[in-house]
Amino acid sequence: MTATYREQGDIAVITLNNPPVNGLGHATRTGIVEGIAKAAENAAVTAVVIVGEGRGFSGGADIREFNTPKAMQEPSLMTVISIVEASDKPVIAAIHGVAMGGGLELALGCHYRVAVAGAQIALPEVNIGILPGAGGTQRLPRILGLEPALNMIVSGKTIMSDKLASTKLFDQMITGDLLVGAVAFAKKVSTVRPLPKIRDIKITYPNADGYLQFARNTVRVVAGPFPAPLKCVDAVAASVKMKFDDGLNLERNLFLELVQTTESKALRHAFFGERTASKVPDVPSDTPLRMIKSAAVIGAGTMGGGIAMNFANAGIPVKMLEMKQEALDKGLATIRKNYENTMKKGRLTQEQFDKRVALITGTLAYEELAQADIVVEAVFEDMGVKETVFKKLDEVMKQGAILASNTSTLDVDKIAAFTKRPHDVIGTHFFSPANVMKLLEIVRGAKTGKDVLATTLALSKTIKKTGVVSGVCDGFIGNRMVEQYIRQAGFLLEEGCLPEQVDKAVEKFGFAMGPFRMSDLAGNDIGWYIRKRRYVEKPEVTYSKVADLLCEKGLFGQKTSAGWYDYKAGDRKAYASTEVNTMIVDHSKAMGIERRKVSDKEIVERLVYALVNEGALILEEGIAMRASDIDMVYLTGYGFPLFRGGPMFYADTVGLSNVVMAIHSYAKGSHPEAWTPAPLLTKLAQEGKTFS
Ligand SMILES: NC(=O)c1ccc[n+]([C@@H]2O[C@H](COP(=O)([O-])OP(=O)(O)OC[C@H]3O[C@@H](n4cnc5c(N)ncnc54)[C@H](O)[C@@H]3O)[C@@H](O)[C@H]2O)c1
Repeated sequence: MTATYREQGDIAVITLNNPPVNGLGHATRTGIVEGIAKAAENAAVTAVVIVGEGRGFSGGADIREFNTPKAMQEPSLMTVISIVEASDKPVIAAIHGVAMGGGLELALGCHYRVAVAGAQIALPEVNIGILPGAGGTQRLPRILGLEPALNMIVSGKTIMSDKLASTKLFDQMITGDLLVGAVAFAKKVSTVRPLPKIRDIKITYPNADGYLQFARNTVRVVAGPFPAPLKCVDAVAASVKMKFDDGLNLERNLFLELVQTTESKALRHAFFGERTASKVPDVPSDTPLRMIKSAAVIGAGTMGGGIAMNFANAGIPVKMLEMKQEALDKGLATIRKNYENTMKKGRLTQEQFDKRVALITGTLAYEELAQADIVVEAVFEDMGVKETVFKKLDEVMKQGAILASNTSTLDVDKIAAFTKRPHDVIGTHFFSPANVMKLLEIVRGAKTGKDVLATTLALSKTIKKTGVVSGVCDGFIGNRMVEQYIRQAGFLLEEGCLPEQVDKAVEKFGFAMGPFRMSDLAGNDIGWYIRKRRYVEKPEVTYSKVADLLCEKGLFGQKTSAGWYDYKAGDRKAYASTEVNTMIVDHSKAMGIERRKVSDKEIVERLVYALVNEGALILEEGIAMRASDIDMVYLTGYGFPLFRGGPMFYADTVGLSNVVMAIHSYAKGSHPEAWTPAPLLTKLAQEGKTFS
């Protein structure tokens, strides 16, 4: 039973028992209704306490029932709450741990609420593009006050129960045992009539119209493309302006409207995508994990330093190895500086700073790393250097240590073969800056042990990353796809665009940064290095030569204060470069291309569909396990607009047959060789199916 009923003297106790967070699934909802009915039937019962077993009161809807008929099956949460509220005997919510979403709405439907300190209170629905749909927008403002309730609902933020102790939300804060306190409270109020109901409270707020208008204006700016926050304001406004039941109806209608929006679907796709990404079909969830209590990093450069910070931030001691003292000192100093900057911004206390800095130490001797549970290699991107490092690691590292490589393009299977323990080798592809970016591509080699994969996935959570598993291929999921995107961006320059136009079009679509600003940030020399390798290894792959011309001039981007754009000292703003723009136009001329005006629509389609097409190949080859994994890579590592849900989800919303049609039309353009539709994409389009 996921909700049980018992009597404790004259007080009935309904206990929610649906681990992990007492989600209000169908069985639990039914249990509550049955409990209220039993309490009503027994004349000896004078009051009812609803309490949660385990980690909290209730975390809200049971996400396992999302998108299933059970989610809406009667008794719905609305029905449960109206039954609780209509009970002739007082119902008391006894809150600990969490009361979130539907869980908090249930508590608001009770006549009284008591809580212990340290409980997380929130209506987080806005985070998945909807609004509280079971009375939360009508009841919370009535009991908490218009402003604080609106802030909670629009932001979805969690507030600790202690912070709300002095508000009317809680009738009593309980110290000591919650149930004992709640039962005592229930006895005290058992005879009080009429029963207090939040629905009966009238909100008084001087100049509510003025405040709501101000709220709308502010929320509109913050919400950007997401419709839910403004609808939250509309719903809360109804709590002031309408009768309770009318407000409830409005809330319901707005909820149903929001559920259908693409933005909300995209947010839910990302929410579930994040959870699904850590599941690997052939790696059971009970796979024994290796302990990660200490770490080592080889190379204290750009990536090595950031990676080390991840471990320290999670409280894991980490030793960095360099070849020369000077490089080591430089790496350690950079880390210190990064932490100092965070402290200056007030996001780190002195104590946290000291602790983190102390957790990162340096060495020049491999022997000192031997006992680390995991070692992440972040040396130069060169197979010869990787070989030296992995042979040495194989020699010195203790048995059972995970040997990870941060390579962005090299073959992890080849790297694994440098050791006598390829099952211990895995790719951990961090993104720059490694201490900031959420994405961690976890590259599963042909021989990577299942426990090594499971441990690395678990580690990604410990260090607060979104871990996505990729198979071995050149560029893995993210960079392999981005290469096609960058290729198209290059062709567009030849055909008539300038960097600014391409970037602006893509940024208008919602990307955090267009391809040229991104390349300037990452360093144009990185792409150049990769292309030079391609010219030898895959001469059939065509590229625009403009980027090579740029690099031949030494314009590597922000690090040289000039790339596709010009940069001024101490300023990251990109200024259009006359020199580069002239170079682009001259190049078209030299190639005999008549430059044309390219529409923003074409720019966006060519860049995004290039991602989608390569994504489909990646799926087909089994490099990515599922389309949502590809989307997670793009949402967390490449600045793809969240409200569009990632490239594959976006393609679904456009319609795959439309995508295929566009690809065929672009194949008639200047570079047909770059536009062979992926067989999977064509097949799904023909069958009228989607990726998800
Ligand atoms: N920079 C990025 O944006 C990025 C992103 C993802 C992955 N990567 C990958 O991370 C790795 C490191 O890249 P980076 O940008 O940090 O390079 P980097 O040049 O900033 O740092 C590499 C460091 O490794 C040290 N090193 C070289 N050989 C060594 C050896 N044999 N033993 C010990 N130390 C050695 C160097 O002294 C240098 O400090 C590469 O494989 C790269 O492809 C880079």
